[in-house]
Amino acid sequence: MITAKTKITGIFGDPVEHSLSPIIHNEAFRHLNLDYCYLAFNVKREKLREAVEAIRALQIVGVNITLPHKESVINYLDEISDEANYIGAVNTILNDKGYLRGFNTDAFGFIQSLKEEGVNLQQKDILVLGAGGAAKAIVYGVLKEGGNVYIYNRTISKAEEIKKRFSTLGTIEVLKNLDKSFVKKIYLVVNATSLGLKENDPMPINPTFLNKDIIYCDIVYPNTKLMKETKRIGCKVIGGLGMLIWQAANAFEIWTKQKAPVERMKKILNKFLTKR
Ligand SMILES: NC(=O)c1ccc[n+]([C@@H]2O[C@H](COP(=O)([O-])OP(=O)(O)OC[C@H]3O[C@@H](n4cnc5c(N)ncnc54)[C@H](OP(=O)(O)O)[C@@H]3O)[C@@H](O)[C@H]2O)c1
Repeated sequence: MITAKTKITGIFGDPVEHSLSPIIHNEAFRHLNLDYCYLAFNVKREKLREAVEAIRALQIVGVNITLPHKESVINYLDEISDEANYIGAVNTILNDKGYLRGFNTDAFGFIQSLKEEGVNLQQKDILVLGAGGAAKAIVYGVLKEGGNVYIYNRTISKAEEIKKRFSTLGTIEVLKNLDKSFVKKIYLVVNATSLGLKENDPMPINPTFLNKDIIYCDIVYPNTKLMKETKRIGCKVIGGLGMLIWQAANAFEIWTKQKAPVERMKKILNKFLTKR
């Protein structure tokens, strides 16, 4: 029950109406009997500064930040974690008695979703498709785990920027073209573009370049055309729901200092998605 004492958390984004985060977090609070709630706030670009000020004014415990604010929100925070600083994006804010700390839990979410599938990136070659905000967190996570990164993006200059940002962390190369004989040697291919969200989107990579020995991970959820195609080829396929759950679990722990009930969070998400 929401009472006058209930602590507030939530998400700022635009659009935000499609967000699955309220379902995941509210179930976790309920399960642990924590007097918290999680709400979605549609925040326009020009209102971001006021919305962040409102976190202090309304004593909101913390919020997640999604598109298009993950980078610009940094300007309004008191401090950001080393990880968020490296990645250049914040997706979680903690209100510590009016002092706002920013974190990035996407890299952790991505790596954890691979680990639970038994995937170890140490000294492996990873092909990242895309060079947007999510790709940055993924590249950071892969390099921290000791993997070698190859990035391919429609706009090459954005991939070059990522290389510049992270080159001190490990091996990272930009590909100007994708070629089948090169892709053949890759251990894991990650789709970090937004392609796959819409039914008529082109595929981010030609599926004939892939074979059953390659692991395919698609952070676009729940199920893209290329996920279906790679399953048919016989690849091990990992979807984006794991990353979503684990980044949420990390944010939950930052706000509540309690261990997130991950299995419960997964269960409610699957229930919601199968009902839809
Ligand atoms: N599973 C999760 O927890 C999770 C977390 C974060 C994000 N995501 C998903 O990941 C996706 C990417 O998010 P983001 O924040 O990185 O978005 P973003 O910053 O807007 O980046 C989009 C990327 O997709 C590429 N792209 C878009 N349209 C394309 C096209 N027609 N052909 C080729 N490339 C195209 C862009 O290439 P250009 O640079 O050339 O424009 C860019 O690399 C979204 O679908 C998002 O929902 C999932």
